[in-house]
Amino acid sequence: MSISKTPKLTPIIQPWIKDLTSNIELISGWVARYGSPINLLHLDPFQENFLKYDKVFNRYGLKSSVFFARKANKCKSLVWAAKEFGFGVDTASLNEIKDCIDAGLDPEKITVTAAVKNRELLRYVIEHQIPVVLDNHDECELLHQILIEEDKTLRVGFRLSGFWHDGEKLYSRFGFDVDEVVNYVSENVTGSGKYNRFKYHGLHFHLNGYSPEQRIDALSQTISIADNLSKSGLETSFIDMGGGILMNYLASSTEWETFHQTLRESIQPAKDEITFQKDLLGIINIDGRLRGEPKVYPYYNELFQEKFVEKILTGLKDGIPLYKHLNQRNIELRIEPGRSMLDQVGITIAKVAFRKTDSQGRLLVGLEMNRTQMFSSSADFLLDPIFLPQKPMEKVPCEVYFVGAYCLEQELLLKRKISLRQYPQIGDLVCFVNTAGYMMHFYESEAHLFDLAQNLIVENLNTWEATPDEEFWKNLWIE
Ligand SMILES: Cc1ncc(COP(=O)(O)O)c(C=O)c1O
Repeated sequence: MSISKTPKLTPIIQPWIKDLTSNIELISGWVARYGSPINLLHLDPFQENFLKYDKVFNRYGLKSSVFFARKANKCKSLVWAAKEFGFGVDTASLNEIKDCIDAGLDPEKITVTAAVKNRELLRYVIEHQIPVVLDNHDECELLHQILIEEDKTLRVGFRLSGFWHDGEKLYSRFGFDVDEVVNYVSENVTGSGKYNRFKYHGLHFHLNGYSPEQRIDALSQTISIADNLSKSGLETSFIDMGGGILMNYLASSTEWETFHQTLRESIQPAKDEITFQKDLLGIINIDGRLRGEPKVYPYYNELFQEKFVEKILTGLKDGIPLYKHLNQRNIELRIEPGRSMLDQVGITIAKVAFRKTDSQGRLLVGLEMNRTQMFSSSADFLLDPIFLPQKPMEKVPCEVYFVGAYCLEQELLLKRKISLRQYPQIGDLVCFVNTAGYMMHFYESEAHLFDLAQNLIVENLNTWEATPDEEFWKNLWIE
């Protein structure tokens, strides 16, 4: 029997993951102790990802700072690690900011891009003198009012949007429009302006999507805005170009292309499904004619992490590379990578609870987890999981769908059919790779009163040890 008609999507896996997943006894012990699923996080790749960015900035002689976008993973140990490894944290809520202060992070190493900044949050950042990135007029009003009440000043940046690209404006609900911001800031933020307690510090943008070309245009226009502001005496010390830096999850371009082709072909009645009920993952099928592309993250891509950043830095403005413009003006370049800083940092492991055949003949494998514990806005997580049987058995390959614990028909952990080399047994484990960026936490819920998954920090201290995130964090202060 051929093992599968389902195209493979082999994930890239770092040695620590290979090492751990080859020790089923150890992992089963952790699942028995902490419940299923468990999230395992390893901090070494977190540092390595930072160093990749740092190296490229150094190569171009740039003043730079990296701020890890904490929203991508809630583990507190990552905040401590950022401090240890020498980079900053981008925060989206008061609690995220408080964790940074508790970890002893220098306020200069914290950036606040929270979409909603209420009075309590603003009071806290004023008290700790943490610079904030302002998004709108009401936010400016509220911050300034509190600064007057407290007789304080604060360093601020302004978020920009509405950049011009290919003759059109890029839409964003965030930030001040690029065509209005120079007037707004120069009228209000100079000494005689109404926001005279703001200390102008810099400019910020974060673009939706993953286009380096759009970022080249945005950075170029931001530099022009900085030049215009300097005519009013407002010197820009940083430009922050946010996150959205691609990472690469998959090992093979051929597998990626084959998957897309097989998905499209699967609508033909004679073809087997490769996704649950021939789900096209966002491609639109109009009477057999397919429109659009799957609405999925580009899990395979060749321009990622530092290469992606390098492409932007070497983009041209008036015939001169952007990095030179920044250097000439002594402007620090900042980035806020979330997902790409967590490349290879985490895995999620769950236990097989049942096998059954559905009324249309599919083999469903129930795992002790729910789909909010591995969920993103992508239509599917297109990586083959690692199957970890408790015992090798006579090889009976099979194709399965993994389903979870919520009582919804659509509770599929992966929409894609997955090939297993042997029939799964109750208690076998399944490891989902590279889940630290958004997948573990961004959408997790406690519906049905299920406990949230335990997050364990793993370290190789001759043998692998796992410590719950909260405990790891607390131990840091006792040592
Ligand atoms: C302001 C801001 N910065 C950084 C990020 C991180 O983006 P990514 O995880 O794609 O790098 C986000 C994500 O939404 C964001 O809104």
